[in-house]
Amino acid sequence: MNFEELKKSCEGCEKCALSKTRTQTVFERGSRDAKLMFVGEAPGEKEDLSGVPFVGPAGQLFDKYLLAAGLDREEVYICNILKCRPPRNRDPLPEEQECCMPYLRDQVRLIRPKIIVCLGRIAACRLISPDFRITKEHGVLYKKGAFLITAVYHPSALLRDASKKEEMLKDMLMIAEEYKKLSNE
Ligand code: URA
Repeated sequence: MNFEELKKSCEGCEKCALSKTRTQTVFERGSRDAKLMFVGEAPGEKEDLSGVPFVGPAGQLFDKYLLAAGLDREEVYICNILKCRPPRNRDPLPEEQECCMPYLRDQVRLIRPKIIVCLGRIAACRLISPDFRITKEHGVLYKKGAFLITAVYHPSALLRDASKKEEMLKDMLMIAEEYKKLSNE
């Protein structure tokens, strides 16, 4: 399946009840040629309305970290574990994540990233380890098959707790450095 086929099949998805409450699916943002991939949790209100990941308040803050790390937001690929908004932005249920994971697996297969960055605990628990502790393990790089994987704080956690911002900047600078090293290989 190519990108357009995958996106189309996602748009028509009715595998879980979120299909009944969504405005639309939220599939991707950025470059399909990216070697750096960010994976968030699930669309929020602004994303559900626009169909684009990370365009709301958390996304706007995240854009500032991309800029601060010298990364072009159009050069990276950004998506979510869930492609549909959970009502009132509640945490995605395990069964909703299960239903949605095949889309993300296919996105990873098509992108073939060198680095995957989980944005927040939900993505890290799903993609790195179920007992992942974001406060202890953010910014740690793990090797997983063909790519490196790490996690940073979710930008909405930074909106709630500004004391995490310094660590976020450190992690983003480290990720940008690794990415530039790998891009030159
Ligand atoms: N939070 C997420 O995890 N993803 C989005 O797309 C927006 C907010």
